Amino acid sequence: MTATTTGLPARVAEGASGDRAGRRDLRAAASRVLLANWTGASTVPSHTLYPHQWSWDSAFIAVGLARLSPRRAQRELETLLGAQWDDGRIPHIVFNPAVPHEAYFPSPDFWRSSTAGAAHGAPSDIETSGIVQPPVHALAAWLVHESDPETSGRRGFLERVYPRLTAWHGYLHSNRDLGGHGLASVLHPWEPGMDNSPCWDLPLERVDPAPATTFRRADLTHGDAADRPTDLDYGRYVRLATDYRDRGYTDAGTRHAFVVEDPGFNAFLIASEHALAAIALTLGQDPGPHRRRARALTTALVARLWHAEAGLFLCHDLRTDTPIAEKSVTGLLPLLVPDLPAPVVRALLRTASGEHFGLGSTTALAPSYDLRGHSFDSSRYWRGPAWFNINWAVERGLRQHGALTRADDLRQTILATSGASGFAEYVDPRTGRARGTTDFSWTAAVVLDLLARTEEPGEGADR
Ligand code: SER
Repeated sequence: MTATTTGLPARVAEGASGDRAGRRDLRAAASRVLLANWTGASTVPSHTLYPHQWSWDSAFIAVGLARLSPRRAQRELETLLGAQWDDGRIPHIVFNPAVPHEAYFPSPDFWRSSTAGAAHGAPSDIETSGIVQPPVHALAAWLVHESDPETSGRRGFLERVYPRLTAWHGYLHSNRDLGGHGLASVLHPWEPGMDNSPCWDLPLERVDPAPATTFRRADLTHGDAADRPTDLDYGRYVRLATDYRDRGYTDAGTRHAFVVEDPGFNAFLIASEHALAAIALTLGQDPGPHRRRARALTTALVARLWHAEAGLFLCHDLRTDTPIAEKSVTGLLPLLVPDLPAPVVRALLRTASGEHFGLGSTTALAPSYDLRGHSFDSSRYWRGPAWFNINWAVERGLRQHGALTRADDLRQTILATSGASGFAEYVDPRTGRARGTTDFSWTAAVVLDLLARTEEPGEGADR
């Protein structure tokens, strides 16, 4: 078993899913990870590899933190929302000024948000990045509220976050509908969060990489190079981010070298739009606009990105106006969308357990990329490894669409594998072996959420 700072006993790994004592130990170990990674107002994904606040990490972290401390979970999201730009965007990183620049690349002096983003209302007193990440936040805010409505109500949590979350979605619906088809698009491989997915290989070929001599990667100080994106990938990430910054982080009316519609990004947006409807209703406001938006997004998602012959949703390259013929787990994430056409749901369920993802047959956790794909690599970041936040989302999707046994099986595997891997950042999808870093916050967070759900009546292992 991987050694971790949490001092995980063997019983946690073995008994996590089975008996109550194992579950209690797993909960304690996951809690220790989140407590150790808390910095006073938010949580770092990892003290070594990612020593600041990350946008979609914080959303998943809040969902798990809510099971430990609803107040902290609310604070996590509100700290992130405190760095929102006036145009509504939530930046993908909020920098901690106490952390030296050398600890992470690209650092605040690369992004220069307070000056380069001034025209879009970037905060003047906090440094952030200028790109975004998947909109999991409204869903997270709703789940945080639901886990303890009393504390949430007493503290006026939903009242405070609702206008900001609405502005965030407004930014994505208006500024980011760059294809004009009613979907949000992404401008950088870091935005959909799956940095080096093989989906980006073709679109990135058009991008002239920044020379390796012009930047220094900090990630390789803490991570194994075989688990991380390559230097060539980084050169392209740097070029795209530099160009966006130098154009003042402007979205419309400028030519982006990389511009893609991603199904997972839009699936989170739809799930979050439904969450905004629930929040509006709770606050005595009209949920209608959110429901209409969710419906319009769902229609656009199916019309634009569904490919029946592939059996899943595909990314769409807006520069060439062509689908990207790679099977990524992002194409299964629309399982999060409640009102998909029945044949689409049936096909997605078949694809999840078929030869490309092998869920419940050749793999215990959904891999990030096609097991039979030409670029499959069981170690390298988003080119094959299984990620716990994504499997948490797949589990929700399976349960939502009535595949309860499969959802239960996946839940038990997430619990057993996360503990055994030392709360790894990601794992080899076939062996469950830890890759990347350990004591990773969102891995611990989804464990806390799933354990709590397992204890709820009518859900989980004890049925
Ligand atoms: N995931 C990226 C990193 O590795 C950027 O958010 O730093």
